[in-house]
Amino acid sequence: MKKHARENDIRPARAVRHSFTLTDNETGNSWEFPTLHGTLGPKVLDTRKLFSQAGVFTYDPGFASTASCTSEITYIDGDAGLLLHRGYAIDDLAKNTDYTDVCYLLLHGELPSPEEKLEFDSDITRHTMLHEQLVSFYSGFMRSAHPMAIMVGVVGALSAFYHDSTDIKDPMQRMTAAHRLIAKMPTIGAYAYKYSLGQPFPHPSSDLAYSENVMHLMFSTATTKYEVNPILARAMNRILILHADHEQNASTSTVRLAGSSAANPLACIAAGIASLWGPAHGGANEAVLNMLQEIGTKDRITKYIRKAQDPEDAFRLMGFGHRVYKNYDPRAEVLRKTCHEVLHELGIHDPTLELAMTLEEIALKDDYFKEKKLYPNVDFYSGIILKAIGFPTNMFTVLFAIGRTVGWIAHWKEMMESPESRIGRPRQLYLGSTQREFTSVANREHTNRKISWSWLWGGKND
Ligand code: CMC
Repeated sequence: MKKHARENDIRPARAVRHSFTLTDNETGNSWEFPTLHGTLGPKVLDTRKLFSQAGVFTYDPGFASTASCTSEITYIDGDAGLLLHRGYAIDDLAKNTDYTDVCYLLLHGELPSPEEKLEFDSDITRHTMLHEQLVSFYSGFMRSAHPMAIMVGVVGALSAFYHDSTDIKDPMQRMTAAHRLIAKMPTIGAYAYKYSLGQPFPHPSSDLAYSENVMHLMFSTATTKYEVNPILARAMNRILILHADHEQNASTSTVRLAGSSAANPLACIAAGIASLWGPAHGGANEAVLNMLQEIGTKDRITKYIRKAQDPEDAFRLMGFGHRVYKNYDPRAEVLRKTCHEVLHELGIHDPTLELAMTLEEIALKDDYFKEKKLYPNVDFYSGIILKAIGFPTNMFTVLFAIGRTVGWIAHWKEMMESPESRIGRPRQLYLGSTQREFTSVANREHTNRKISWSWLWGGKND
């Protein structure tokens, strides 16, 4: 059995001084802060006592240098292009197993035995249906609503349904909440799509594997059974595995922050979905396809590559670059192969997909992208595969959310079980006014500034 990091690794060793000395150059005062040592990765400076001892905060917008928690779930080495889930390499998992195996691994720390897998899969299958009252929520949305907006609403509403899984101190209830979420997300996501089409909601199928059920729910109709194509099912399975977790990214950190106040876990996941929606995060897969549509034809690629390099232009090549990976994103590597496989095996000749392949080729050879280490990320290829499978663009981020749910809930569970967890409460560097006297309206200076909010309610904006 693997040794757990927390048992012996994060305590500073005795013989060598594992610490940093901080000196205030104004006063000459010095403090010593210990370093913590994980099983992998750089050492971490323990600044928990920084404010109480030295009276200063650290400034780290975007948390580029800040570890907000300890975790045993996922390890990323961005420079080496390495991603491990509980110690297993992502490409091994993506190529050799199925999504629920990875769910079990993320939640429980070990791959399931054959008996455990059978039990886990059957438990997930048992929770896939939605309560009829929850289904009635959909009719409150506009048919044109973005499916991610519906996801935020419906997953948030789940918290009003399950009163038997709200005691977050009870491990059984925590696990029930986790299983329910993993099981229901494909149904919730697919119904958002079906609702936009005005089609009846299909029932989940207990005979299908998780990834096959995702496609069945999305594509079967009341009159036609969806025949699952094994090439597409394999691609779907890989997409789900490759999105399952990615340590402390924006949406997972959002879930942890929301959960740190002991909030309802299902509501915390809704917060994660909201965070994922943005184009800098999970919304990038949708943005990639929109960008490709904007580029339009191959002869316009160079123009957009130049736009992406122009510091005066806000345009970025969507699906390129990553906060952590300054080498190839290992998930993108698997998806790139899968993408070429799917397009080849299905004999798809779609001009948008061909445009994407040419853009990939040109950007990979371009000096700007090479120098800044901007490689295609997971969202670049997932969008192309999802389009080939037949998903509409606005469903791409929903599929990311379905895959990521296990990561969110595994991190939430880990946080709830950690004795070190505290409510998340960052500090700030205040740049506003210093304290000043209040002046009543009658005594304030008159101004000629034209401030008009009338456009907000349809008036003229002058
Ligand atoms: N196109 C053109 N230039 C870029 C791009 C891009 N896609 N990404 C980064 N850069 C440039 C950026 O302008 C900056 O240049 P300079 O050093 O001259 O100021 C430099 O590269 C570093 O960028 P950054 O914004 O400081 O990097 P970051 O770590 O804060 O942002 C990112 C990472 C993913 C938000 C960013 O690369 C990006 O906006 N990419 C496009 C959106 C995207 O594909 N997002 C999906 C991320 S992967 C899936 C997920 O985690 O959800």
